[in-house]
Amino acid sequence: MAVRLTVTALLLGAALAAAGMGLPHPAAAADLHRLFEDRCAACHGDAGPFAQEFLADRGLTAERLGRFVLRHGGGVPPDQAPALASMLLAQAETPPLFQQHCRICHGKAADFTRDRLILRDGVLVNRYSGRPIAPFLRTHAELSPTDQTFFLNLLTRIEGEVHGP
Ligand code: HEC
Ligand code: HEC
Repeated sequence: MAVRLTVTALLLGAALAAAGMGLPHPAAAADLHRLFEDRCAACHGDAGPFAQEFLADRGLTAERLGRFVLRHGGGVPPDQAPALASMLLAQAETPPLFQQHCRICHGKAADFTRDRLILRDGVLVNRYSGRPIAPFLRTHAELSPTDQTFFLNLLTRIEGEVHGP
């Protein structure tokens, strides 16, 4: 029954999108950052600052937050609510270092990652040249080893959120 409902919801979503009713293209559906921008940002602004202000340190699980998001509305596909919730909880726990140190040159982390990076065989690389990002970060922006690890993990997480698992 639950499966059938999900399939129906998906078909409905696809049909509405195909009819051009303002829903994003189905191919964009796996992009959680786009999903938030399309369905939530008009009221909540950027996901990172929103999550840090309202969702940090509240002992929320992705499952509970996912259920809230579905009840809350906005038309998130049910099968994507837990992933969207996980993204928000990860953002709630991540200090805004990209915003503070990188955004001035690279823009928003999600846009930068979507456009330029990809995970290939478990290694984060430039999607066009194939250049691995970890060694690049050793000589970029004067990052300490701790910072290099932080940013590599951050960009790797976001890569999964914008390009899908
Ligand atoms: C039309 C405006 C609107 C849209 C669109 C919207 N929200 Fe909200 N949201 C609100 C308002 C207003 C509140 C505060 C009142 C409440 O809790 O319902 C809220 C509260 C929340 C909260 C709880 C914050 C807290 O302090 O507990 C979360 C989480 C949330 N929204 C997530 C989302 C997500 C994710 C989306 C997109 C799928 C979304 N919202 C779309 C208006 C909106
Ligand atoms: C002063 C501007 C500037 C700042 C600040 C900056 N970068 Fe860069 N970054 C660049 C430029 C320019 C390049 C391209 C260099 C190249 O390709 O050799 C680049 C390349 C990169 C790449 C490789 C992208 C690719 O396509 O291969 C990554 C990853 C990266 N930066 C991460 C960061 C992170 C993380 C921060 C914050 C700690 C940061 N950068 C801060 C200017 C900046």
